[in-house]
Amino acid sequence: MSCDQVRALLRPRSIAVVGASRNPRKIGHRILANVLSSGFPRDCVFPVNPNAGEVLGLRCYPSVRDVPVPIDLAVIAVPAAVVPQVLEDCGARGVKAVAIISSGFKEVGNIEAERRLVEIARKYKFRILGPNIVGIWDTVARVNVSFIDVNPLPGGIALISQSGALIASLLWWTRERGIGFSSLVSIGNRADVSEADLLEFFREDPHTRVVAIYMEGLGEGEGRRFLEAAYETARVKPVVVLKAGRSPQAARAARSHTGSLAGSDEAYEAAFKQAGILRAQSLGELLNWSLALAMAKEPADGGVVVLTHGGGAGVIAADVLGRWGVKLMDIPPDLAERLRRYMPPFGSTLNPVDLTGMMTGEDLRGALLELLRDDRVGAVLVWAGQGAIPTPQELRMAIQGAVAEAGLGKPLVASITGGEECRSAIRELIEAGIPCYESPEDAASALAAICTYYRGRGKMRGELLHARGDEEVVREIISRAVREERALLTPIESFEVAKAYGVPVVEAGLAKDEEEAVKLARALGYPVALAVETPDVPHKTEVGGIILNLNSDSEVIDAFHRVLRNVKSKAPDARILGVSIRKMMPRGVEVFVGARRDPVFGPLVAFGWGGVAVELLRDVSFRLAPLSSGDVEEMISETKIGRLLRGYRGRPLDEGAVKQAIIAVASLMEEFSVIGEIDVNPMFVYEHGAAAVDVKVYLRARR
Ligand code: COA
Repeated sequence: MSCDQVRALLRPRSIAVVGASRNPRKIGHRILANVLSSGFPRDCVFPVNPNAGEVLGLRCYPSVRDVPVPIDLAVIAVPAAVVPQVLEDCGARGVKAVAIISSGFKEVGNIEAERRLVEIARKYKFRILGPNIVGIWDTVARVNVSFIDVNPLPGGIALISQSGALIASLLWWTRERGIGFSSLVSIGNRADVSEADLLEFFREDPHTRVVAIYMEGLGEGEGRRFLEAAYETARVKPVVVLKAGRSPQAARAARSHTGSLAGSDEAYEAAFKQAGILRAQSLGELLNWSLALAMAKEPADGGVVVLTHGGGAGVIAADVLGRWGVKLMDIPPDLAERLRRYMPPFGSTLNPVDLTGMMTGEDLRGALLELLRDDRVGAVLVWAGQGAIPTPQELRMAIQGAVAEAGLGKPLVASITGGEECRSAIRELIEAGIPCYESPEDAASALAAICTYYRGRGKMRGELLHARGDEEVVREIISRAVREERALLTPIESFEVAKAYGVPVVEAGLAKDEEEAVKLARALGYPVALAVETPDVPHKTEVGGIILNLNSDSEVIDAFHRVLRNVKSKAPDARILGVSIRKMMPRGVEVFVGARRDPVFGPLVAFGWGGVAVELLRDVSFRLAPLSSGDVEEMISETKIGRLLRGYRGRPLDEGAVKQAIIAVASLMEEFSVIGEIDVNPMFVYEHGAAAVDVKVYLRARR
C-alpha cells in the first residue's frame, strides 16, 4: 500500500460522510458532527444521504458520485447490505480511501460479503479500513472521523487497535492523564488495511514517536509481512504490542470477536522478539511504556540512577529494573560527594540514592540537577511520595525546575505516589514532557522498556542463514511418501532427509531380513539398536518396536523377530518395511530441535532440552524461519540447556553441531512446503560432534 493512500485515510484533505443521517441519535449523524467539531475545515466535508437535502447546515449529496470535489476519504455508516453499492460509487468517483464503520461482515460469519468489499476496492484501486470500526482520530489533521464524541490530546503515540470499544474508552482514560496521540486507528475486521500498512506509514511519520498496537490476531499467512514491517519500523522508532488471547479461552474469545485466526502464542512471541517489538502484558504497560518511549531520548552511556527519598520505593524500582536486566550504576565518588550536599548524614549515595524523609523540594531539585548534568549517568528514575515536607506541587516543581535548568538529554522517568493532589502533579509533568506515574513499579517498567528498546535497536538481525542441502535426496523421499499417501516418513527416510541438510544423525541402515540385519550390525560395529521400519507408528517404544544395546549376532536375530512380533500384535495395520539397524551412541547431553508450521507465521523452529521429559522441562526457545545468525545465538542462550552446552560447570560441548542442526531443520521447512513438522529428539551432543538418534518428519495433509 502506498503511504499516500494511508495518508488519505488518516490525514485526508476532504471527507465524504456516507449515511449522514438527519437523526442526531444515529451513528452517521454523529460522525458528521464529530468531523465538524474536531476542527476539520467545514468546506472540505461532504454529507451523503439520498434522503436528505441538508444535514447540520451542510448540503447533502444523494451519492458520492455527485460530490463536486475530489474526495480523499469516504467514511461509511450505512447498513451492511448497502455498503457494496456505496463502494461502487466511491470507486466511480475516484475516492482514495474508505473507512467502513458498518458491522455485519466477517465478525458475524458474513465472510463472502466482506470478500466482495475487498474485490470492489481492488477493482477501483482504493483501500478499505475496517469494516466494523469505531473510527479514526488524527491530531495532525485535527480530525475525529468516529461516532465517539471526544478528541485525543496531541502527542507522539500512534495507536492501532483491533478493538474499537477499547479505543473509545482509552480516549477518556488518556485525556484525563495528559497522554497524547498522533493518531488512533480502529482497524476492526482488517479486511484490507492491516497493521503492516499502518506501520509502514507511521515509520515515516515525523509526528509519531512510538507505535502502540492492541492485537488479537493476524490472518492466515499474514505473519511474515507484519514481522518485516514491524522490524523495519522498530529500527527507527519503538513498537509496543499488547497481544491478547494468550490462554486458550482468551484465544477463543478473540476469534469470535474479530474472526482472527489463532496462531500459536509461541509464534507471536518469536515474531515480536525477531522484529524488536516490546511485548506489553497489560493495557497499563502498553500505555505506560508508550508514554515514556514517546518522550524519552536515547539513554546515554552509563547506567541508571534511581533517586528517592525513601528506601522502599528505591528497592521496588531496583527490583523491576533488575528483572529486565537493567543495571544500576555505581555512583562515582565525586558525584556522591556532590549528592551529599542534598541529604542529611544518614542519607545514602549508594544507588538507589536516598535523600531521606528530611528531603526538601530544594534538595530534590539539587540532587536531580546533579544527575541530569553528569554525563556518566545514562538515565534517571526519580521517585517522590506525598509526605511530611514538600507538597505534591512542590515535588512537581522541583522535578520540573531541574529539567528546565539542565535540559533533557537523557531519559528521565518520574513517579509521584500519594493522593488526589499527586494526580494533578503527574498530569502537569506529563504535559511538560516528563513521563510520570503513580507507582514506582510503573515508572521502573517504563524506564526498563526504554533501556530495552535502545539496547536492542542497534542490533541488526544478522545475516539470514540457509543450509545448502541435497535437494534431490529429499525430493525423492518426499515424492515417494506423497505417492503412497503417507503422513509420516519412515525412520530411515527421516534420518536421510535430516542428514541431507546437515543434521548430524546416527549411522543407520535398512535390513529386510535377519541376514541383512546381522551384516549391517557387523558393519556398523556392536553395540547396535534395532527398530521397526514403518511409516505408520510414530512412537515405536509404545509398541515394542525398538530394542537397544544389542551386542552380538544372536541378539540381533532374536531382536529382529521379537520386534516384528510385537508390532504385528500391537499395531496390526502398520506397514512393515523391515528394520533399521543403528549404531548405539554413547549418551550425550540430550537436546531437541524441531519445527512446525504456524498458520499465521509459517515455519516455527524450536530448540530446547531434549529427551523423554521435553514436555515436563519446557526449556525451549522458538524463532520463525528464516533464521538469522542472531536468532540462532539467542535460541541457544535463552535456554538452560544452551547454557549447559556453553560449559556450565564443565567443558563446553559442540555448539556448532547444534547450530548446524537448527539451521538444517529451518531450511528444510522453508524449502519443502509439504513438510508439516520435524522432530529431532533426542540429539546427543558431545564435546566434538553430535548425533540425532530419533528423527520424525511429518508431511502436511494435501489441501
Ligand atoms: N447512501 C447514503 N446514505 C444512505 C444510503 C446510501 N446509499 N442509504 C440510506 N442512507 C441513509 C439513510 O437514509 C439514513 O439517513 P436518515 O436517518 O436521514 O434517513 C442513514 O443513511 C443511515 O441509514 P439507516 O438505515 O438508518 O442505518 P442506521 O443508522 O440505523 O445504521 C449503521 C447504520 C452503519 C450504524 C449500522 O448498520 C451498524 O453497522 N452499526 C454498528 C456500527 C458499529 O458498532 N461499528 C463497530 C464499532 S467497534
